[in-house]
Amino acid sequence: MKKILKWVFSIALISNLSIGTVSCSTSNINNEFDNKINENTKSKTIVVYFSWSNGTETMANYIANKLDVKTFKIERELPYSSNYSELSKDARNEAVNNLRPKMKEYPEYINNYDYILLGFPIWWHVAPMIIGSFLEHYNLDNKRIFPFIRSSAYLSEHLTRALNFLRDNSSKDAIIEKEVYSSSRNDVDNWLANTYLDKVKTLE
Ligand SMILES: Cc1cc2nc3c(=O)[nH]c(=O)nc-3n(C[C@H](O)[C@H](O)[C@H](O)COP(=O)(O)O)c2cc1C
Repeated sequence: MKKILKWVFSIALISNLSIGTVSCSTSNINNEFDNKINENTKSKTIVVYFSWSNGTETMANYIANKLDVKTFKIERELPYSSNYSELSKDARNEAVNNLRPKMKEYPEYINNYDYILLGFPIWWHVAPMIIGSFLEHYNLDNKRIFPFIRSSAYLSEHLTRALNFLRDNSSKDAIIEKEVYSSSRNDVDNWLANTYLDKVKTLE
């Protein structure tokens, strides 16, 4: 089983790299959302993400460029190893023991945002535990969280566990909106238009 997982994740890493290369250039993106979201909505929106092999980071930057909003990258205080085997052991230990690793920084300004587009990869069948560290640190009551999630196998049970993890670790009145579970730009574009944009329009 271990071997199969390792194989699946290795393939995923390679495919992430290729997706990363294709989608690296964000400079030419037309800001088609410019006339669709107003300054007030922009000022309430932030993209928060965690990423190890940069797939989620690429997506986060893509989204932030489209919406013209700020990003915050979640990092562990003690950085994760860049070596896959070490990282994988470390991440597994955190997941099995339901740990909440310390983040490198906990910026105050996160409290100023009402719409948090939260990106992360699936790690060991659930969200990385450091996502729990983020969610538990802040009072997210009445804030809207829009998850964008990547994986290699895109199994629905991993998504279910990740979404339950978000609900269980956020403040009681945090609102978890519909997620996108894909690395496809088309899917992300549709999610931005049909979930994020539709929702914020009804709130402004
Ligand atoms: C430590 C670790 C554990 C992972 N566990 C899973 C998993 O349980 N299920 C899955 O489908 N993919 C798993 N993956 C694959 C990642 O979710 C996938 O490669 C993702 O796109 C990586 O995002 P990133 O480039 O932003 O780090 C794992 C990857 C790593 C490094």
